[in-house]
Amino acid sequence: MMATGSGDQERLYPGGPTSVERLRGTLTGFGARHVLALGDMVADEYILGRPVRLSREAPLPVLEWVDRYVIPGGAANVARNARALGASVAVAGVIGDDEPGRELRRRLIADGIDVAGLVEEADRPTSTKTRVIGGSSQVVSQQMARIDRVIRADVVPRTRDGIAEYLERALPGLDGLIISDYENGVISEAIVATAIPLARRHGLIIAVDAHGDLGRFRGITVATPNQEEAASTLGRDLRGDDDVARAGRDLLTLMDARGVVITRGSDGMTVVEADGACQHLPAASPAEVRDVTGAGDTVAATVLLALTSGASLLDAAYLGNLAAGLVIRRLGAATVTADELKSAIDRASGL
Ligand SMILES: Nc1ncnc2c1ncn2[C@@H]1O[C@H](COP(=O)(O)OP(=O)(O)OP(=O)(O)O)[C@@H](O)[C@H]1O
Ligand SMILES: [Mg+2]
Repeated sequence: MMATGSGDQERLYPGGPTSVERLRGTLTGFGARHVLALGDMVADEYILGRPVRLSREAPLPVLEWVDRYVIPGGAANVARNARALGASVAVAGVIGDDEPGRELRRRLIADGIDVAGLVEEADRPTSTKTRVIGGSSQVVSQQMARIDRVIRADVVPRTRDGIAEYLERALPGLDGLIISDYENGVISEAIVATAIPLARRHGLIIAVDAHGDLGRFRGITVATPNQEEAASTLGRDLRGDDDVARAGRDLLTLMDARGVVITRGSDGMTVVEADGACQHLPAASPAEVRDVTGAGDTVAATVLLALTSGASLLDAAYLGNLAAGLVIRRLGAATVTADELKSAIDRASGL
């Protein structure tokens, strides 16, 4: 343990009960945590090409092949974020019997993530989001096209049963579960009905980061929707802080949750606790933004790990916001380490 100095009483934002020492202590717990990311795995595929001339077929540049790679996205990005922060991480979901699926699996294994819960479903392509990027050392890189191959149908019963059996085996030994639902067919009513009661029975912290109706998830610890997702579940527009705070309280009741963290892009986030207390946390400055892809996944992973390490909801959200402020400075769906987060705490508190 670090000596507690005057920083112990430091407040990192007006009215915030957060102490620097306590935040640092939370981070030191991350390495001992075991968590599972359950949900829709996405292969983020990048095809890089060097523009060589204008095509004669259409008003488009012809790109000469340079490289292609796959980065784990969706629930797999939540898993990568938790792993980068130091936790032991497993994933449960579906991939296809195809090249993006195999590459996704390889990438997760290379990151040290347990893939025993990844079920391969023949005839179901792996959800893939392909970006074609034109650029070279002489030309600024630019995304030229994006092609999504996303399957929204529910997984077949055999896959669903395979995932459910894996959950029965794996969940009892874990500290936390994150359900990451991109509405690509893994998070069915049956899987929710297996996962949440089981996780509750074994005392896991349960976080939900989901598109679609948030009312499907009841009895969870925390939800981390973005503002649009919160608005669409409640069926009303949210304008300004007061609307968002009210939405957070309504979601808390609807989901029977202990906390709700609504992420709001450049407006930061709004945190609502079980007693209805509400805080707005500001985002990193716009000058630091390079690519916001996956920032919500970073928030979800960080909040889950902080809560499993015994942090208060406000401390967990503060760390999530800080981590998001770091990943948006990097290209693609990036991750941060606990050390980087620790340095960011020191900077934020002026140490
Ligand atoms: N333009 C921005 N400027 C500053 N901070 C941002 C910006 N966009 C996102 N962030 C940070 O990232 C957090 C999460 O972002 P956002 O609300 O966009 O989540 P999201 O829509 O769930 O993202 P995704 O699902 O694509 O990962 C915000 O709470 C904020 O801290
Ligand atoms: Mg999101």
